[in-house]
Amino acid sequence: MTSKMWGGRFSAGPSAVMAEINISLPFDRRMAAQDVRGSIAHAEMLVARGIISSPDGQVIVEGLNKVAAELANGQFPFKDALEDIHMNVEDRLKDLIGPAAGRLHTARSRNDQVATGFRLWTRDLIDKIDASLKTLQGVMIDKAEQHAGTIMPGFTHMQVGQPVTFGHHLLAYVEMLGRDRGRLADARKRLNELPLGAGALGGTSFPIDRNMTAQKLGFDRPMGNSMDAVADRDFALEVMAAASILSVHMSRLAEELVIWFSPQFGFIKFSDAFTTGSSMMPQKRNPDAAELVRAKSGRVIGALIGLMTVMKGLPMTYSKDMQEDKEALFGVADTLELCIAATTGMIADLEPNPERMRESARSGYSTATDLADWVTQKLNVPFRDAHHITGRAVKLAESKGCELGQLALADLQSIEPRINADVLKVLTVDAAAASRVSYGGTAPDNVRAQAKAARDRFLGEVLKW
Ligand code: ARG
Repeated sequence: MTSKMWGGRFSAGPSAVMAEINISLPFDRRMAAQDVRGSIAHAEMLVARGIISSPDGQVIVEGLNKVAAELANGQFPFKDALEDIHMNVEDRLKDLIGPAAGRLHTARSRNDQVATGFRLWTRDLIDKIDASLKTLQGVMIDKAEQHAGTIMPGFTHMQVGQPVTFGHHLLAYVEMLGRDRGRLADARKRLNELPLGAGALGGTSFPIDRNMTAQKLGFDRPMGNSMDAVADRDFALEVMAAASILSVHMSRLAEELVIWFSPQFGFIKFSDAFTTGSSMMPQKRNPDAAELVRAKSGRVIGALIGLMTVMKGLPMTYSKDMQEDKEALFGVADTLELCIAATTGMIADLEPNPERMRESARSGYSTATDLADWVTQKLNVPFRDAHHITGRAVKLAESKGCELGQLALADLQSIEPRINADVLKVLTVDAAAASRVSYGGTAPDNVRAQAKAARDRFLGEVLKW
């Protein structure tokens, strides 16, 4: 049997394997609603321009609305033999309204049709991800506010560096997610141009009005070059690149959750909602959700590399290779949705253990910078020399097996005689954190102010980026 849609010059139907490799319906049915939306706008424009009659246009639009309803309530009769969602919708329209359905594809090709539907789908996706990232930021900001003064160690090289607050640490991720949302918003601006009206590749001889179609579909303008319009998949790549960076951020956070949850750290607890047991070791509680968020970034990055590789070297304009774009992005969408939800759940669920965090913050001579800063400021010593003096104090504390703040004043004075009792005040982890009042620093009052500012920047109607 030859295809009803393009079978005119074909005498025999495709071999079974040809049909199997060619078919995209099993996955592109996910963009059915967007395909119908595009078709309705196209039909209305054809009527407005007198390209099809008003009565034809009316039955077409009514028919398409019925198709949309069938799709929404699960009654749509999908037919694998019809290759993809576009031909399924048109075929169904023909069943519903008869021969007038054949006029819908006037001045249109599947090439500009698929590019339009996929852009609409991607735009909807960006809006959904943005909303769920906003929710995640809200949960993080709440937690950060509760723990604006909860001391924990700040690390570099995974070694204790300086005391920070847990709230400060969480707000670092709020910033990352803000940039992720900014990147997606940028991608949205660039993708918001209409391909429809490009035809197969060269435009059309029909007197269409692409501005009208663009406006009906909420695009800012029609794409300026018909060949680019059907050949471009930057928009999908850009969203996947932004998604990859986002999933790297979630993966880094997930890794920290795994570390903090380990008994060796004991910084946080999860409820049973976000942990699992071991089939053999009854005492175990495993942070599987965090581990899976850490791992699933691999899928997102893999999908980006996959589609990049598909597009690399493709000549102008459309080639069937490009049909591979959808599964890649659909997979990214599903993975992101799951990972953002799991991360949101884990952040809301986790309970920090402030005593463990504080105890750990006191290790590793974490107030050494504070000693050096004190010597620099109070004794007017060049910072490089103060650094050297502090190094000697650390060495002394190490040999005595105590913290810096536990050294006797006389010990410190044996290194630098001008050091006085005033110094002991800066050598506690609380004083160290509270002293970092520079803009963006970790002082609890700063963190409270940063949390407030973050609410305003990220949780309002518009993203302030
Ligand atoms: N299913 C196809 C895709 O996703 C639709 C476009 C088909 N165009 C064509 N010239 N065969 O790319």
